[in-house]
Amino acid sequence: MLAKPVNHSRTTLTELMIPAYANFGGRVHGGTLLSLMDKVAYACAAKHAGQYCVTVSVDNVNFRQPVEVGELVSLMASVNYVGRTSLVVGIKVIAENVKSGSVKHTNTSYFTMVAKDDADRPTEVPPLLLETPDDVRRFLEAMKRKELRSSFSEHFDNAKTRMLLTENIGKLTNERCQLADGLDQDLQD
Ligand SMILES: CC(C)(COP(=O)(O)OP(=O)(O)OC[C@H]1O[C@@H](n2cnc3c(N)ncnc32)[C@H](O)[C@@H]1OP(=O)(O)O)[C@@H](O)C(=O)NCCC(=O)NCCS
Repeated sequence: MLAKPVNHSRTTLTELMIPAYANFGGRVHGGTLLSLMDKVAYACAAKHAGQYCVTVSVDNVNFRQPVEVGELVSLMASVNYVGRTSLVVGIKVIAENVKSGSVKHTNTSYFTMVAKDDADRPTEVPPLLLETPDDVRRFLEAMKRKELRSSFSEHFDNAKTRMLLTENIGKLTNERCQLADGLDQDLQD
């Protein structure tokens, strides 16, 4: 398979934040932004893969600043990494106030997508042609994130299976939770 450059699938989606996207506080719903991120991730991944793609996981969604109705949101997506059938699409989201010209960076997130064939099976994607130092940096960072995520999952799964409720109940003492009447006894049984 021929490698495809990052630029082949680089995609920007710009959308006006209309009142229908607002939450009760008058600002844009986080879910609206997530949906737009999923859309742009799909467009970018499908262009690189030349196949239908599905979203498998999302890393690092922290909204650093609120987005207001009336702002123009741009989602800039590029393929950062490809595996055999999976791709990581990095998405930088900015919100622009057209009147004041101020631009804020609301978040950068990473969507892992998998290409599927006509029988709905994961299918191989073209390698990624890295043409700039940024392309190389993003590829290496994605490899690191993948490695850290798999070691986190392994550690957490181990910790979970060893976490006996009765032995850990004391850790709740200074937390802002309260055991319902009788639950303490139920846990001992
Ligand atoms: C993602 C999916 C295809 C994986 O299927 P699978 O039988 O486990 O296939 P594989 O083990 O061959 O994994 C395929 C690729 O997905 C990657 N993958 C699987 N689970 C993953 C996860 N949780 N996070 C990141 N990558 C993952 C694998 O590493 C592999 O990548 P590679 O080929 O580049 O090495 C399958 O779980 C699926 O279809 N999920 C539903 C996705 C979907 O419908 N999304 C929309 C939600 S509405």
